[in-house]
Order: sequence, then structure tokens, then C-alpha cells
Amino acid sequence: MTIDPAAAISRRVAAISPSATLAVDAKAKALKAAGEPVIGFGAGEPDFATPDHIVAAAIAAAADPATHRYSPAAGLPALRSAIAGVTMVGGAEVDPAQVVVTNGGKHAIYNAMAVLLNPGDEVLLPAPYWTTYPEPIALAGGVPVVLPTDVAAGFKVTVDQLEAARTPATKALVFVSPSNPTGVVYTHDETVAIGHWALEHGIWVITDEIYEHLVFGSHTFTSMPVVVPELAGQTIIVNGVAKTFAMTGWRVGWLVAPKVMASAAANLQSHQTSNVCNIAQRAALAALEGGLDDVERMRGAFERRGQLMWSMLSGIDGVTCLEPQGAFYCFPDMRAHVGRTIAGRRVDSTVDLADVALEVAKVAVVPGEAFDAPGYVRMSFALADDDIAEGVQRFAELLGGD
Ligand SMILES: Cc1ncc(COP(=O)(O)O)c(C=O)c1O
Repeated sequence: MTIDPAAAISRRVAAISPSATLAVDAKAKALKAAGEPVIGFGAGEPDFATPDHIVAAAIAAAADPATHRYSPAAGLPALRSAIAGVTMVGGAEVDPAQVVVTNGGKHAIYNAMAVLLNPGDEVLLPAPYWTTYPEPIALAGGVPVVLPTDVAAGFKVTVDQLEAARTPATKALVFVSPSNPTGVVYTHDETVAIGHWALEHGIWVITDEIYEHLVFGSHTFTSMPVVVPELAGQTIIVNGVAKTFAMTGWRVGWLVAPKVMASAAANLQSHQTSNVCNIAQRAALAALEGGLDDVERMRGAFERRGQLMWSMLSGIDGVTCLEPQGAFYCFPDMRAHVGRTIAGRRVDSTVDLADVALEVAKVAVVPGEAFDAPGYVRMSFALADDDIAEGVQRFAELLGGD
């Protein structure tokens, strides 16, 4: 009897959508490799090299036999301490026992959902949201409850919206600020209001702080468990070195949770991946111990580039774009261009628009559908100023023609 391998894939895994952001990036890279002059606004990662002192620490670590063996599943003790030292909950630093080092922030999110959710538990997920979130929720048996927001609402969920979506099955809220994909940063007061709502109703908060250092202008990062300290017992913080230190490829992230939750996550991880690569952990330790000078240099460049992209996008007819407040994305509203014929092609969605942009203008953008926000596109400004100017110009010309 022959077996169809496709039919044998478990229902749980077959239900996972491929990552749309990685798909756009792969398509753009393939066209570029084939010699096309593609400008990629799709990638969600800094274009800078990892700072030298971090790379040097990794080289030294690779030569040290102590890194050649298994290490504790929850992370190297020195790294857990360093993470605890840079993480505040309430007015206090956290205990290293609350920290679990993971294979990137993405893995921290998986582990957080796995330790928190039982089948049927609902997780409130404000949209537009980073494309990965629904999958670990669903894999853990949870139910993502999407709360849409739009450009007119500044892409921010309100307490009224949260309250309207709350049911007896609501277990957690995903809170991400600065946000991927919108670049929006919640203010202190908005964060406090949402934190108090979660506290009042016994809702867990998974707060993704991975872009905490990338904020622009007068916008400041607010950590919910700092401004609502009473939330400490029902918060899981997700963070990592990827975006802050230009270390996306090193795969070091972490979660910070109440001790019992952290130890459950470490237990899970001990059977799942064991320790994160020791060399990468030592590099992450050097990053955390090395101060924020390099981070400030990169943040400054992102701020300048964000202004350039935003001002150019804002000059295009029918495009509304919020000024970026943090992270490294513009999220322009393209609804006025959906339903048009562009470069001789009918554009019925932002998926179509992204296809035309790539094929005709050789510009890669991620369609809003990837973030449950059709009608928008995400454009990363983590690339050189000249490329931003050239790419947005091509995009503008594409939209200007018919
Ligand atoms: C909001 C958000 N959280 C977490 C991550 C995960 O980062 P990593 O797994 O590279 O540490 C990303 C990456 O794109 C992100 O945008």
C-alpha cells in the first residue's frame, strides 16, 4: 500500500501557515540572485553587522572547551544573571531563576504559549500583529481572538475593545510595543490603562519587548510590568538580542516569568532543544555587558531612515502613513490603490499589489494580509538611505502610472 506523505502530516501542523514575511524575503532574494535589481523592504532585521566586540566574544567562546559541552537548559548562569540585571518588574530587578534563555524571541513565544495555555483558552491578539503569533497559540490548543485596529485608531487597541472581547475563556493578552508591523509605540498612560484592565480581570500578559531600544523622537518605551508592578505574577516578558544588537542570526532570546512558570518552560525546553548554542549565549552576554553605544548608533540611523521613508510615502497620492514611532517599519494604508489597474494588472488586494511591486518595480514589500491587516503593506527601513530613496521612488512611480 502506498502512503501519501502529504496526507500523513498531522492536522495540527498542516494547519500552520507558512511565514509570509519569510516567503516575501525569499522571493526577493531569489530574484536578486538571478541578477534583478531588487530593493527589499521585506526583511524584519537590521542591516548592520553585529558589533565587533560581540563577534570577538563569540570567537573566544568557540575556542574555549567549556563551551563545547551541554549546558543548563534554561541558559548559562552568567547570561541569566545579566538578563535579570537588565529586566525590571515593578521597581526591582528580576531573579535569574525567572529567566529562560531561548532560541530567539520566537522560541520564547512558543514556550510561553505552551506553558500557559490549555485547549480552548482564548488569547486576545490586537491586529495588525506579527505574523507568527497565532501559530504558537493554536499549536498549544489556544484560540487567537483577533482585535482589529486601523490607521485611524493609530493601530492601538483600547481597553473598551479588550473588554468587549473578554469572555470566561480569556486567558491572556499579547501586547507588543514598539510594534511589528506598525511601528507604533503605546504611551505610558495607555500601557497603564491596559495593564490595570488585565490585573482587574486576572488576564495574563505576554509582553513582547524585543524592540524596546528602538524608539524615535519623543516616543519612549514603557514596560507594562514596570508601570503596573502588581502584574508581576501574571506577566511573561519576551525579549532578545536580535533587533537591539543586530544579532538576528545568532538566535538568542529569552522569557522572564514568575519562577514556577520559568521552571516549567525550562523543563519543556530540556526535552525540546536543550541549551541554546553556548557560543551564541556568550556573544549575547558580551552584548548585554557592553553597553548601548552601538545600539544608539544603529537606532539613530533607523530614525533617520524612517523619516526618509515616511516623508516619501506621505507624498504619494492615496497613501496614508503614520510617522514611525519605533521598530523599523512603515505600515502605509494602500486601500486607495486596491481595486485599480496598475502596470496593466488588476490589483484586488495588497497581496496583488506586493506581487506587482516585486515583478514590475522590483521592490519587495510585505502585504498586510500577513499581519491580518489587508489593505496595508509593511516596508522595513532597515536598509541603506540610497536604497530607501530609490525603492520608494520606484514604488511611487508604479502607483502613479496606470
Ligand atoms: C514582535 C517580534 N517579536 C519577536 C520576534 C522574534 O525575534 P527573534 O526570534 O529573531 O529573536 C520578532 C522578529 O521578527 C518580532 O518582530
